[in-house]
Amino acid sequence: MHKVARTVAPIHRLLAERWSPRAFRPDPVAPEALVGLLEAARWAPSAGNMQPWYFIVATQEQPEEFEKLLSCLVEGNRRWCGTVPVLMLTVARVQDTGGDENRWATHDVGLAAMSLTIQAASLGLYCHQMAGVRRQHAAQLYQVPAGHEVWTAIAVGYRGDPESLPDDLMERELAPRTRKPLDSFVFSGSWGETPAWLPEAP
Ligand SMILES: Cc1cc2nc3c(=O)[nH]c(=O)nc-3n(C[C@H](O)[C@H](O)[C@H](O)COP(=O)(O)O)c2cc1C
Repeated sequence: MHKVARTVAPIHRLLAERWSPRAFRPDPVAPEALVGLLEAARWAPSAGNMQPWYFIVATQEQPEEFEKLLSCLVEGNRRWCGTVPVLMLTVARVQDTGGDENRWATHDVGLAAMSLTIQAASLGLYCHQMAGVRRQHAAQLYQVPAGHEVWTAIAVGYRGDPESLPDDLMERELAPRTRKPLDSFVFSGSWGETPAWLPEAP
């Protein structure tokens, strides 16, 4: 199955080949690999180097912990996440040390999540980010302190057989990946003005 990005300029293989599957093999992720993913997240840039990210991690090796984290996902995501080897919640510390709002916190959690995702890709692992999280439930369940917000979930593992999914999800798994063209979001001079150096959309 080829889900590699069709690009108008060459991009790094890890970026082009990354995508978000729902079918995962049950094979465990080795602890060294898992630590490597979190280490990659640790070295992401952040506003004021505040490093506002936190990760709550559960693996299938600890079924009770896994079920606890699985309960934090909305039903639509629980449908396909039951057999994923690793689940994570991301949490953003949305206040700085002085108690003021850190407006860039969730931006920086996203940067850390992407670093983690690309490190995963370098190891042949795939990540699937999720906004479909029961955030209040998760915050209570994990006693997330004030000033922090449960943000997203991430499924991590090796890509599995699309046929293991229910029909509707299998269809989405096999569908080509699509993106808006560059000229719809890259401007120069003023809003909506396409830079002369931008290639024509294919
Ligand atoms: C912040 C965020 C939230 C997402 N939430 C969900 C989700 O709740 N459930 C889901 O199945 N996919 C979710 N996705 C996956 C996106 O649908 C997917 O990244 C997008 O369609 C592009 O596909 P690709 O990652 O395979 O290129 C989410 C992705 C991001 C970045």
